[in-house]
Amino acid sequence: MRKPTQNDRCLVAGGAGFIGSNLCRHLLKDGISVDVVDDLSTGRMENIAELRQNPSFRFIKGDVADENICQRLPHRRYSQVYHLACPTGVPNIELLGEKMLLASSAGTLNLLKVAQRSRAKFLFASTAEAYGDPQVFPQPETYAGNVDPIGPRSPYEEGKRFGEALTRYFGQKHGIDTYIVRIFNTYGPGMSPTDQRVIPQMLARLIQKKPVVIYGDGSQTRTFLYVDDLLAGFRLVIERGEPGAAYNIGGSDPVTIRDLLETVKKASGLTGRGVHKQHFIEDHRGRWPDTAKVRALGWRPKVSLEQGIRRIHQDFCEEVGLHTSTSRSKTEAPFMSTSELPRATFSAQERRSLYDQFHRV
Ligand SMILES: NC(=O)c1ccc[n+]([C@@H]2O[C@H](COP(=O)([O-])OP(=O)(O)OC[C@H]3O[C@@H](n4cnc5c(N)ncnc54)[C@H](O)[C@@H]3O)[C@@H](O)[C@H]2O)c1
Repeated sequence: MRKPTQNDRCLVAGGAGFIGSNLCRHLLKDGISVDVVDDLSTGRMENIAELRQNPSFRFIKGDVADENICQRLPHRRYSQVYHLACPTGVPNIELLGEKMLLASSAGTLNLLKVAQRSRAKFLFASTAEAYGDPQVFPQPETYAGNVDPIGPRSPYEEGKRFGEALTRYFGQKHGIDTYIVRIFNTYGPGMSPTDQRVIPQMLARLIQKKPVVIYGDGSQTRTFLYVDDLLAGFRLVIERGEPGAAYNIGGSDPVTIRDLLETVKKASGLTGRGVHKQHFIEDHRGRWPDTAKVRALGWRPKVSLEQGIRRIHQDFCEEVGLHTSTSRSKTEAPFMSTSELPRATFSAQERRSLYDQFHRV
């Protein structure tokens, strides 16, 4: 197997989502053609609107769990297949749990077959939630986790664990180079301001001058990684990683959710307060990746939490036509230029409300 060249195409399943659309942008920048298959269940056409102007980019709307869609995909050879297609967001577990399970089971099998036909490398986007509610800190890849197979989070967690098992087994059986990345909380441009994940949620609430909801006492911890650093890790894993192996990729410093709110306020210059609520679902006390394995491939994250928050804050504000006091310096690497950034959408009503709230400050 070899590196993709400018004559190759990559397939990005879930490419209209937050991470997927950033991945497509990186691949296209390197001159690699990209096909996206996405059913838009949690992704957005706005994320790929500007990419669709590029003749090397092709969008196919479809569900990866549908065998017919995947069988029709490889009209030409793919050198790499990235499987990021899965509905995300804890509040979506109740609504889209079945789709989560199918995307990670039938969807993974269908995409592995696409990779097999193309002799492509295959990367499965797994999650820190494969460890469930961990009892070991930090979590190395060898830790088997603490997961309830019929717990409230199981459609997402067990779906991903099944996807991992299938990815490894299929690769070994059919001689396909497969890789598993366990992604810990990642954020950045391309997330919708209505995204329920913690950083976009905090920013959107602060911009709207609404109290920020903190579940429980806020002492639960997470690590946070800027999306460009995640994508640098993807590249190293797929180019230099060990086939069949799993790699954690995530931020290195655990932050309590309470402290995260203070960091978001400091980085964005926004003000506001948190309100404590009981979580609507069983919460995990902490997640913290042991990243020694991916670091051994040469990976080092470059973007600090404050830098990254400023970037996503600016992205949200550009969306609603607001100016921030934390505008990004044009020389600040490795961010993309404003014209390259994906656009998120607010409804007309949300936009008006955000604009009104902001100008009342
Ligand atoms: N962002 C994170 O912090 C994080 C953490 C752990 C794991 N991940 C994983 O990374 C991947 C990308 O996450 P994201 O943050 O970009 O979320 P996202 O919701 O923005 O992207 C997921 C994309 O997959 C698409 N999709 C869902 N089901 C599909 C199906 N059956 N067929 C085709 N497309 C489908 C959605 O429409 C969306 O565009 C997901 O698999 C997610 O589980 C993300």
